[in-house]
Amino acid sequence: MKVLVSDPIAPQGVEILKNAGFEVTEQSGLSPEELTKIIPGYDAIIVRSATKVTKEVIEAGQNLKVIGRAGIGLDNVDQEAAKNKNIKVVNTPTATSISVAELALGMMFAAARRIPQASVSTRASKWEKKKFKGFELYGKKLGIIGLGRIGTELAKRAKAINMSVQAFDPYVKTSEYAQVVDLDTLLKESDYISLHIPRTKETEHILNKESFSKMKDNVVIINCARGGVVDENALYEAISSGKVRIACVDVFETEPAKENKLFELDQVIATPHIGAQTKEGQARAGTQVAELVRDALKG
Ligand SMILES: NC(=O)c1ccc[n+]([C@@H]2O[C@H](COP(=O)([O-])OP(=O)(O)OC[C@H]3O[C@@H](n4cnc5c(N)ncnc54)[C@H](O)[C@@H]3O)[C@@H](O)[C@H]2O)c1
Repeated sequence: MKVLVSDPIAPQGVEILKNAGFEVTEQSGLSPEELTKIIPGYDAIIVRSATKVTKEVIEAGQNLKVIGRAGIGLDNVDQEAAKNKNIKVVNTPTATSISVAELALGMMFAAARRIPQASVSTRASKWEKKKFKGFELYGKKLGIIGLGRIGTELAKRAKAINMSVQAFDPYVKTSEYAQVVDLDTLLKESDYISLHIPRTKETEHILNKESFSKMKDNVVIINCARGGVVDENALYEAISSGKVRIACVDVFETEPAKENKLFELDQVIATPHIGAQTKEGQARAGTQVAELVRDALKG
């Protein structure tokens, strides 16, 4: 049986497929047209986020039995088309939870001490010691919006450094790691607010002009979830007015975010959607997706 790996995955994953006796082709950067042309020769395809497994690709895949996504989001796979053709879609939702939680925690440290800004200043020979008086995270209140896999990993870590942790999640009633509260309470009481929700109709702009007005002054916002869950215009205003002290943003409404109004502001710590980008997380995602595809092909 033949497996097409059309976005790079960890070599351990490719090994698993080869050891299972499959013929593996690693070819990335294929356009949808090119993919449609070659897909009839494959029994399975493994993607990350770049390859678009469209309806056309799925319909052309006459031998296709499994679509594997190394990672969580399935926005690049037409799941309806796969279902109609009885093609199994598998993904690795837990592989990178710790990586994302660690980035969010790292963002909180970076914000409390303004590490990125202090580094830029020091390397410009300014030695601005007084300007960079920061804050401790110890004893501060963290509000987590979305207490799923990543939110829970962050809650555990925040508790370990003696932060007080509360969370809002309409689908979670209690937690060992956080006090579950309503959204208004979280907005009013938190010193740090970190989002860990999917982007859905319900969560779009969950942080908007009105929510910022309810927050404490000098609040820190961390978005390592999805662009669009925070209204970027409202965030820009909230930073400019001084309501938000620092915003840490890994995900943007439009990506790749080469230009964004938020970049004008020194109070913004920005990263290029790297939440899941760790060696360990990607190794786990590659291994898990390969195992899932192998097991699905072998029935
Ligand atoms: N920055 C990155 O590179 C990166 C990497 C992986 C995941 N993510 C994002 O992180 C998000 C969370 O991932 P996860 O694995 O923890 O997902 P998860 O499904 O385990 O958790 C999401 C949680 O959000 C909750 N939720 C749903 N609607 C809500 C609402 N309206 N208000 C509050 N909570 C709500 C759910 O009940 C669930 O508990 C993903 O959806 C993805 O968008 C980002």
